[in-house]
Amino acid sequence: MQTRTLGTNGPDLNPIGLGCMGLSEFYGKATEQQTAIALLHKAIDLGVNHFDTAELYGMGANETLLGEAFADRRDKVFIATKFGITRDAKTRAMTGVDGSPEAVRRACDGSLVRLKTDHIDLYYQHRMDGSVAIEETMGALADLMNEGKIKAIGLSECSGDTLRRAHAVHPVSAVQSEYSLFSRDLETGVIPVCRELGVSLVAYSPLGRGMLSGAFTKENAPDAKDYRSYSPRFSPENYAANLALAEEVHAVAARHKAHPAQIALAWVLAQGDFVHVIPGTTKAKNLTSNLAAGEVTLSQSDLAELDNLSAKVVGDRYADMSVVNR
Ligand code: ATR
Repeated sequence: MQTRTLGTNGPDLNPIGLGCMGLSEFYGKATEQQTAIALLHKAIDLGVNHFDTAELYGMGANETLLGEAFADRRDKVFIATKFGITRDAKTRAMTGVDGSPEAVRRACDGSLVRLKTDHIDLYYQHRMDGSVAIEETMGALADLMNEGKIKAIGLSECSGDTLRRAHAVHPVSAVQSEYSLFSRDLETGVIPVCRELGVSLVAYSPLGRGMLSGAFTKENAPDAKDYRSYSPRFSPENYAANLALAEEVHAVAARHKAHPAQIALAWVLAQGDFVHVIPGTTKAKNLTSNLAAGEVTLSQSDLAELDNLSAKVVGDRYADMSVVNR
């Protein structure tokens, strides 16, 4: 797979990275530490160099895991992490967003310790803070850049307008937002601005949180311990319809003798060279298969067939859509 440049200044990365969240939280039980570390090491061996985490994931546990795994091979990995979503220490409930300069500095120092590194390669604001001007948050991020603590700036789930304002303060290298065959709302908002300003799009949940990867069936839906069971698209009234839609990807996969997850990833990668994907997986077999998506070339008619699906998806991406595209 050819590398793709992040933002306008790079570095050049394997456009198929690894979303590490599920190793620690949200998708059922956390993976046992030694197994998780083995997976992260295997990812490097297979050519992955872009690893995505956040302070939020496991309330620091996911960053600590990456710190353990990568301390002796820091030069081989590009680490992206995120700040800004606040949680209650006792209940673990998410309580809001803090983009104040003091919070940015505090969060960065905490992430550096947990990641056992002196720099973060790409530092994202995880969600936009409606009460702090983006210019103020960007000012704090620019200071961290000048100090060498972070090497590039990103925003996650921002609007096109916020991206434009942020970029005027300091170049933004990447926007990370949900983007898949099933989630294309950003095509009319932030994507045209990414293209115009030379900002990369890092697509999270490119497999529709597993809906597009064949991980779920009618009988095997996410259980109550899995955060996805609270997602509108996985709710009892929408689940069967969305699953049936996801099965339409299987026909394209059969034609290519490929796995449906590979088709879903190839579709995202086909949307432009400014796009990177970070599918999440906890399994070496799925990691290996996902990386081979780079070899799948979809025809114009495959793309047209797949393009039809998103309009038929039922349910919003999140129960509360006010927290995204801000
Ligand atoms: P997110 O970005 O939120 O992690 P995603 O990348 O769209 O979401 O999907 C992640 C889900 O797809 C995980 O549940 C993952 O399960 P495993 O940890 O069991 O792999 C699943 N998944 C990823 N790649 C897969 C593959 N090749 N086959 C089947 N399931 C896969």
